[in-house]
Amino acid sequence: MKLRELIDKLEIEETLTTEEWTRLLNHFTQEDAAYAADKARTIADEIYGKEIYIRGLIEFTNYCKNDCYYCGIRRSNEKVERYRLTRGQILDCCHTGWKLGYRTFVLQGGEDGFYTDSWYQETIGKIKEAYPDCALTLSLGERSKESYQRLYDAGADRYLLRHETANQQHYGRLHPKELSLKNRKECLWGLREIGYQVGCGFMVGSPYQTSKELAEDMKFIHELKPHMVGIGPFIPQKDTPFAQETQGSLRLTLFLLSLIRIMEKHVLLPATTALGTIDPKGRELGILAGANVIMPNLSPVDVREKYKLYDNKICTGEEAAECRGCIDRRVTSIGYHIVSKRGDYKA
Ligand code: 5AD
Ligand code: FES
Repeated sequence: MKLRELIDKLEIEETLTTEEWTRLLNHFTQEDAAYAADKARTIADEIYGKEIYIRGLIEFTNYCKNDCYYCGIRRSNEKVERYRLTRGQILDCCHTGWKLGYRTFVLQGGEDGFYTDSWYQETIGKIKEAYPDCALTLSLGERSKESYQRLYDAGADRYLLRHETANQQHYGRLHPKELSLKNRKECLWGLREIGYQVGCGFMVGSPYQTSKELAEDMKFIHELKPHMVGIGPFIPQKDTPFAQETQGSLRLTLFLLSLIRIMEKHVLLPATTALGTIDPKGRELGILAGANVIMPNLSPVDVREKYKLYDNKICTGEEAAECRGCIDRRVTSIGYHIVSKRGDYKA
């Protein structure tokens, strides 16, 4: 079968064999990528139109008990100046965001034991009370199912937890031994069961990743059927064990975005900040490849520099309002527009 026929097959059957995935990912040309992007964009336009959803990202703590080899805020990185936002500061970010048209807030942080379930419950309650028309997404890492349930009952709507890689050996090469793929996957299935809109995802071009691992990622996504999938290129961070590794490619990231859209047609798919970091037009190209979400930063400017998972991260000096204007212009320039809506999954 020619590679284009594999893309057609993916569109119809929504699955490929491992051999087909690896062949497609190893041998695709620019023409194949353009063919996939065109299909992906048509599918996204049919479901979501020319609307792009925005999510206001609030990076509220860079303390983390984990030591993932790729991540700039891993606990062993002593060069990071650690910070925590107070509930008041978080609510101020939401206030700023609401005025700028955001109707989804994402609370993201390292796995920081300082914040308890009851602190989260109260914070979630306060945000949902002040902004009843907004969705609240959590991205707090691995927790117990009981904890996920409590936060859901407190009003959280969505949860982002990238699986990072669906291959166990590969997982072991990206993480210290106290972390396991099994637990990660159980968290994701648990979140789904509770009723969250769930997001998984992975880095493109992480060390030791080959098309075999990517094939497993695609199969896992198809199995989990998440509402959101976050992918972006791996970018080395200078104070991590992966400082000398090469960054993920733009071309492969864009192709995978298209394939995810073709496979999981309704999925909410962000053009990530990492994609915008490796190419000045990365996020626009991401949308043109099938993405329909952008997640600009709402964190206070004085902490942004401290939440650097990878080097050269964009938007660390810009105020929330500047990013909002910038994003508007970028999205408009390619024939799309930002909408001030919650932007839920359209079944
Ligand atoms: N490059 C790109 N993405 C990274 N992440 C963490 N470190 C890096 C890096 N060096 C991603 C992980 C994590 C998400 C919040 O950021 O996939 O889940
Ligand atoms: Fe932040 Fe462009 S999105 S400056």
